[in-house]
Amino acid sequence: AAAVEHTFVVSQVNMTHLCKEMAFTVVNGQLPGPTIEVTEGDSVTVHVVNKSPYNLTIHWHGVYQLLNCWNDGVPMITQRPILPNHNFTYRFDVAGQEGTLWWHAHDAFLRGTVHGALIIRPRHGAASYPFPKPHREIPVIIGEWWEKDLPQVDRNMTNGYFDDYSSGSTINGKLGDLFNCSGVLEDGYVLDVEPGKTYLLRIINAALFSEYFLKIAGHKFTVVASDANYLTPYTTDVIVIAPGETLDALVVADAPPAGRYYMAAQPIQAPPPDTQTPEYATRATVQYSSSSSSKNSSRDAVVMPEMPHQHDTIRSFYFRGNLTGARHRHRHVPARADERLFVTLGLGSVCRHGGASCKRGGNLQESIVVANVNNVSFHIPAATATPILEAHYYRRRRAGAGAGTGNEHELADRPPRAYNYTDQTLTPFGPEEMRLEPTSRAVVARRFRHGATVDVVFQSTAMLQGDSNPMHLHGHDVFLLAQGIGNYDAARDEAKYNLVNPPRKNTVLVPNLGWAAVRFVADNPGAWLMHCHFEFHLSMGMAAVFIVEDGPTMDTSLPPPPEDFLDGRP
Ligand code: C2O
Repeated sequence: AAAVEHTFVVSQVNMTHLCKEMAFTVVNGQLPGPTIEVTEGDSVTVHVVNKSPYNLTIHWHGVYQLLNCWNDGVPMITQRPILPNHNFTYRFDVAGQEGTLWWHAHDAFLRGTVHGALIIRPRHGAASYPFPKPHREIPVIIGEWWEKDLPQVDRNMTNGYFDDYSSGSTINGKLGDLFNCSGVLEDGYVLDVEPGKTYLLRIINAALFSEYFLKIAGHKFTVVASDANYLTPYTTDVIVIAPGETLDALVVADAPPAGRYYMAAQPIQAPPPDTQTPEYATRATVQYSSSSSSKNSSRDAVVMPEMPHQHDTIRSFYFRGNLTGARHRHRHVPARADERLFVTLGLGSVCRHGGASCKRGGNLQESIVVANVNNVSFHIPAATATPILEAHYYRRRRAGAGAGTGNEHELADRPPRAYNYTDQTLTPFGPEEMRLEPTSRAVVARRFRHGATVDVVFQSTAMLQGDSNPMHLHGHDVFLLAQGIGNYDAARDEAKYNLVNPPRKNTVLVPNLGWAAVRFVADNPGAWLMHCHFEFHLSMGMAAVFIVEDGPTMDTSLPPPPEDFLDGRP
């Protein structure tokens, strides 16, 4: 195993797009940031030098971080944020997983521009892929272009103001030629291919706000992995990917090589009436190297794929329903759960100025709309407080196993009130205005015994105006056992669980007005954030911390913090 070392200088650089020059916070001057390439078993060291004006952390999305929660990179959960002009070094091993993951800033919307791919190659080389060895491997990162100060957007959302949208979508940092300003077309990403060869696209949805359709005119995808877990190969002409997810797909360059073909990404939006969000597709070009005429051919000669309807959320549901885990690589799914959690995902309201003066149904001036799980909205501890992991670690040392952090609110295993979750007359922004439930705000956590097998059913509610929810768990992969539309019903739906070859994921899309059931083994001691990977839902509080207790032995217990862990503190 090798040691892979990087230095990430985070700073603001000026970029001009759509006729506007703006400062963006990026890593090493690049957007997307540098790709980290490792072989399974390698150890990674990343020195983060924060020359930006913001507090930040970097999270290694999907990396197990076994017994290494200290390096998970979540502000105030696993560490204090890295202050401007401070440095921090992350150290982790990449073991027991291969495929595509990514890294990103974890807070204040900064991940919109602070992100990059993390590629894990198999120990025994490409010959050990459970699919034909590709000619080349190419990261395809879907993102958004924001002509905004992202930390300001975050503050707006946290305070209940929702007028910020991105100006467009990007593929590998480029807007593409659907965008122009004063007649000047934006550059698009160009993927050069050779006829007959096979390419492995490592597709990452790094966007803050949208799930996407991705299509290439004249070509098909064979999806072979997701979230660094192999899948049964599935051939499709459209990929559907939610924020936080990765999908590895093979594309054979088998179209007539004289042509050029657009690769288009289009956001999927909640169905009407939520139509205010502008629709911004982006496109890249697939170009055959043998095509000598390609440089001269007019833009009209490029073939555009026919995209699904922008509100076709059912297409997303079926796409996911077709994915299964690759059986021969499959870890065994525990036959039954020790613990069950039923978690509703919704919106609620809290009083803007505290106190009891804002009554239910009060207007938006008085109350703030927050997102919640089981009607509790996650409150990130103040930067002056002790991070949850540190509090857990030291309190536990003093008080013995089972001690909490002292200020957490235990996540109930059900919402406080049962109702017909998917009844659309409960929609908060309908004609009757603001039927939001009063919500409490807390550091909401749930503790699990080491080694417990846990079932979580995520239930989307009509409170969300039809948004789906890509739910992401840190430090563990989950088996996606089943998904459905409508209200989850254990008596009926447990029979649908796939216990044979479910996909293993770190991010699971809970369908709009539906549910998803997952199972995981809580075998990684530490404090792990579980949250919606739509950035606005995260900043509004759709999150909880899963605290996994130590196991009985040293090598199932969280070690002390690394020696230089407190570097970078004020
Ligand atoms: Cu990719 Cu907690 O995030």
